[in-house]
Amino acid sequence: MCGIVGYIGPREAYPIVLKGLKRLEYRGYDSSGVALMNGQLQVYKKKGKVAELEETLVGKDLHSHIGIGHTRWATHGEPNDRNAHPHLSQSGDIAMIHNGIIENYAQIKQELLAKGYTFKSDTDTEVLLNFIEDIQKNNHGTLEEAVRIALRRIVGAYCILLIHKDDPETIIAARKGSPLVIGIGKGEHFLASDASPIIEYTKEVVYVNDYEIAIVRPDELILKNLGNEKQTPFITKLDMELAAIEKGGYDHFMLKEIFEQPTTIYDSLRGRLDAETGSITLTGIEKYAEQIMNANRIMIVACGTSWHAGLVAEYIIEELCRIPVEVEYASEFRYRNPIIHKGDVIIAISQSGETADTLVAIENSKEKGAIILGIVNAVGSSIARTSHAGAYTHSGPEIGVASTKAFTGQLAVLIMTALYLGYKKGTLDRDKYLSLCKDLAAVPDKVATILQLDDQIKALAEKYKDATDCLFLGRGYNFPVALEGALKLKEISYIHAEGYPAAEMKHGPIALVDENLPVVFVATKDSFHEKVVSNMQEIKARKGKVIAVITEGDTITPTLADDVIIIPPADEIIAPMLSVIPMQLLAYHIGVAKGYDVDKPRNLAKSVTVE
Ligand code: G6P
Repeated sequence: MCGIVGYIGPREAYPIVLKGLKRLEYRGYDSSGVALMNGQLQVYKKKGKVAELEETLVGKDLHSHIGIGHTRWATHGEPNDRNAHPHLSQSGDIAMIHNGIIENYAQIKQELLAKGYTFKSDTDTEVLLNFIEDIQKNNHGTLEEAVRIALRRIVGAYCILLIHKDDPETIIAARKGSPLVIGIGKGEHFLASDASPIIEYTKEVVYVNDYEIAIVRPDELILKNLGNEKQTPFITKLDMELAAIEKGGYDHFMLKEIFEQPTTIYDSLRGRLDAETGSITLTGIEKYAEQIMNANRIMIVACGTSWHAGLVAEYIIEELCRIPVEVEYASEFRYRNPIIHKGDVIIAISQSGETADTLVAIENSKEKGAIILGIVNAVGSSIARTSHAGAYTHSGPEIGVASTKAFTGQLAVLIMTALYLGYKKGTLDRDKYLSLCKDLAAVPDKVATILQLDDQIKALAEKYKDATDCLFLGRGYNFPVALEGALKLKEISYIHAEGYPAAEMKHGPIALVDENLPVVFVATKDSFHEKVVSNMQEIKARKGKVIAVITEGDTITPTLADDVIIIPPADEIIAPMLSVIPMQLLAYHIGVAKGYDVDKPRNLAKSVTVE
């Protein structure tokens, strides 16, 4: 939530900050702003997307060698110019941007109001900023010192960048709970919420840890903890290319990411799965294999699309490894005082690796002695670093707000994990294991085949784009795919969509069915297929419109459905990696047909770093 960029060095700061904000817009796009310094401190901010800010700044003198910028996903205060960041302190001397939530801001605000402070915005950020300024005034000390003292009292999450009008050579930054990466150039530094604004300038980065303050000058990077002790910056080499974060000829990142899946799934499997010899190498997980296999239960925590991947994993791990699995929304799990015993296994699934609820859920569980496995896409992210072990999905940067390739990457890793553990434990026999390894290895090619249905699915999107509601139904391994299909559609087309287990539909949603309701069935050939076909009959009997995703060779379903999307066969355990592709394309084309910005749907953000 919210993207943060900063630059200090010999180059012009504004173009670097602006480009960085465009790369981080997936994190929020309610409003944006920059602070620059050329003799005096200048702040420009505007409601709307970064392009709108850029437009208003055309022709202005934006010369500056230091700059901070912010793209916002509103928490405190509606999205408008006033609440946009950067904020200026009461004196106008300090500019600050913030990603996160200050939970005890109301109390601090009261104290500042009593001292005569006034506030120009409704944000918690302005409160923290004036709190810092007040401390600095009273102590007659440095800004760095004031930040340190202020942060010791702060409850909540933050990544903040500050610049002071009297010190054009320093950016002060700090984080707790919200990400911050610092790129190290030659006589220059780049700061950002993730590495995407940085990679074209340098590949050497430092991931700042919680409770650390960075004092950033062109030639110097000092890291300290809140106790004023110097910390050694740990420099990491970025393994990411610029092309990975550009649209590469596609109209939208979402479409590019859907079409990348044959490659990204292959990348998730590469070096890990050898289908010929039947070997699976998951170095991160192997160390903990015995403990996982002998665990009394596995708990999976995640949010959004990652939670749906967790649901698929529940079915698969229980089937192949015979270990009880519970899947929880991280936001519920963290607050409901779950019973966790030493040695319990928690799998955290996250594309961004920064989702606040998932992160805190695993931190709490870790304290209680659980083993944490992270299935994460973003390398070096907070969840990856907090986990004891795990596996990266290697899906590459996902920029479209609606998650697509991350989901199939997560499934690839989760299926490999289940196969590896099940075979090792002996709950999965060798023949079945080998046949599933082969099926998994064949997924990239099969996804490529499904992507050839793009035109057909686009035509279906035209046919159904004016629906006001839509139901997605599936059973077994395909039930979470139905949930994911509904989520994709509502996220980017704003059509009310619900996913349901196909049979459960009779306990309520069936009341919605009439000739205007499209019902998408995920009805590939599996052990539940006949049951799903019966559910389809029930919908048809009530005149609902049925769109069915079916397996090649199925002759019965086409006689029932109004429209069919035919995909290649696969074992039912692998099938969700295929059946989800038409869901993604259908949602994408409906969103586009309705004229929406599918990469930046309203009210959403890609990385939810607030709870
Ligand atoms: C947000 C995104 C979703 C994502 C969810 C979980 O809601 O819009 O696409 O599935 O967060 O994010 P994570 O990065 O933890 O997978």
